[in-house]
Amino acid sequence: MNEAQLIDTARSLVGDHKGLLAMDESVGTCNKRFAALGIPQTVEMRRKYREMIITTPGLNESISGAILFDETIRQQNADGTPFIKLLIDAGIIPGIKVDMGAKPLAGFPGEKVTEGLDGLRDRFAEYSKMGARFAKWRAVIVVGKDLPSRACLEANAHALARYAALCQEAGLVPIVEPEVLMDGSHTLAQCQAVTAEALHTVFEQLYKQHILLEGLLLKPNMILPGLDCSIQEDKAATAEATVKLLLKSVPAAVPGIAFLSGGQSAELATLRLNAMNRVFKSKLPWALSFSFGRALQQPALEIWKGDKANIKAAQRALYHRAKCNRAACMGEYNETLEHSV
Ligand code: 13P
Repeated sequence: MNEAQLIDTARSLVGDHKGLLAMDESVGTCNKRFAALGIPQTVEMRRKYREMIITTPGLNESISGAILFDETIRQQNADGTPFIKLLIDAGIIPGIKVDMGAKPLAGFPGEKVTEGLDGLRDRFAEYSKMGARFAKWRAVIVVGKDLPSRACLEANAHALARYAALCQEAGLVPIVEPEVLMDGSHTLAQCQAVTAEALHTVFEQLYKQHILLEGLLLKPNMILPGLDCSIQEDKAATAEATVKLLLKSVPAAVPGIAFLSGGQSAELATLRLNAMNRVFKSKLPWALSFSFGRALQQPALEIWKGDKANIKAAQRALYHRAKCNRAACMGEYNETLEHSV
């Protein structure tokens, strides 16, 4: 493990107020989003969509790294240039999602454990040779009556730590993503309690597996009420709840925390990130950044709709969202910027 290189990559990913673009939807998830917009669900349409994203002019002004999927990292643009080369040439660090998805946890109905450790050392060797410098593994935690179970939290935390160890061994920075889902009618306080349990369990396992905390990034959920909860706190309350919990749960050695968007609308995710940095940025030991999938891509996807004629407008929408989120990393996002296109 080259510690200096890991630390340098991790810092670069959250440096200069930039964030990550998660474009690592599995084939199934990408197809589901295409289907909702009437876009044909083919390898070639997924390739065209990813080409549109990667070739967005000026994307690197706000985006430090892009998380790819196994299919995508092997693809090229129309003239045969590998996506990974396009990213590197644009000054964007390529990363790769390496988990094999969340599967039902045997013996615990309604809960999931993420799979993908078998053969992971060999897959890391291949991705590293291709040029990937960081990776992602996502665990999902459901909030419900008597959920999550300790068994679910521990199984997922253990897998995350084993993945992080193999990742650092291969010289890639692990993004550690324990996602407490927004689905359900749980309150903000319940989300906070479950996320606290999840993060403490994860950092205990990271410690046990000798993970270099300076060479990883955490990708958590924000502390929010469930989507069906009747009380939806404002952005000041969610910012305070999120930052307070992270200060208690995430060691200062970690260079950055890059939130997932988890189904929030694009603007709300930006507003909430901005609210955290505007009030707390000067008091935090780590950078508070973004690693959004839907909250960066969805507006662009809805404009593109699979039609070549819409590429430029879709790229402008993606560029704009990325720019708004970089402003949110500085606590400088506002209505004027949001409507400045
Ligand atoms: P969302 O921002 O759409 O939640 O996606 C982030 C991600 O990478 C989930 O693993």
